[in-house]
Amino acid sequence: ARLAIQAAHEAVAAAGRIVVLSGAGMSSESGIPTFRDAQTGLWARFDPMQLASTEGFRSDPRLVWDWYAERRAGVRAAVPNAGHLALARFAAARPGRLQIITQNVDDLHQRAGSPDVIRLHGDILQSRWLDPCRAPEPCDPATAEPERPPHCTQCGNLLRPAVVWFGEQLPPDALTRAESLARQCDLMLVVGTSGTVYPAAGLASLARDAGAMVLIVNPHASDLDAVAHQCLRGTAAAVLPLLFGD
Ligand code: APR
Repeated sequence: ARLAIQAAHEAVAAAGRIVVLSGAGMSSESGIPTFRDAQTGLWARFDPMQLASTEGFRSDPRLVWDWYAERRAGVRAAVPNAGHLALARFAAARPGRLQIITQNVDDLHQRAGSPDVIRLHGDILQSRWLDPCRAPEPCDPATAEPERPPHCTQCGNLLRPAVVWFGEQLPPDALTRAESLARQCDLMLVVGTSGTVYPAAGLASLARDAGAMVLIVNPHASDLDAVAHQCLRGTAAAVLPLLFGD
């Protein structure tokens, strides 16, 4: 494993344009639960269709809001781990060479100091209207009645977390930009994702097909292992400082 780490460190040092695709495992060592890890993953304990879909929200907005309020508190209590910090430091020392694309809805990459993070699945700390606001003067989400579920007192519109739910489109500009960067990079580092959710998971093949080296950092096997040139079996906080440290 040490030899693999050494080779990967050299590949990082030699790469001109690096794209990192991060998933929930990136924040696991910061205390934020992943989705599909056995026992500890959120989807082992909750029903994703009930809590992370538009239908689920419309059928019980109060339940979904209570769940997101709990997750928001967890995100606010979390701190960036050594993996987030290693990426931020590397990017600060080498402007323009490292771009982070994340599936995560927490703000830990940003709080670690990574400047321009592409967020494919939204931001759990932000809210937006469930339906387009039909008022002549669009109502401001910040004025929503805070009680559960938060809603607009003028048009009754419900407020929802600004995250991408199952079956919903990703923010088009984020996805377009991510696909373009995946096609142009020399190295893609895929860290902390099971690689089961598309189109995010498809970015690894885009990079590989365009000639990039694809590395995975994950303590377990993932659905993207076959796409990678090398899989480093370790955690984000343990391995990233070895790859991106000086
Ligand atoms: N370091 C690195 N990887 C880790 C760590 C760690 N400390 N701990 C767990 N992992 C790995 C697991 O082995 C797993 O492969 O992180 C991955 C987490 O996978 P998921 O829980 O499926 O999370 P993710 O891949 O980000 O899910 C993608 O699915 O639920 C939706 O929209 C949600 O963005 C999410 C998407």
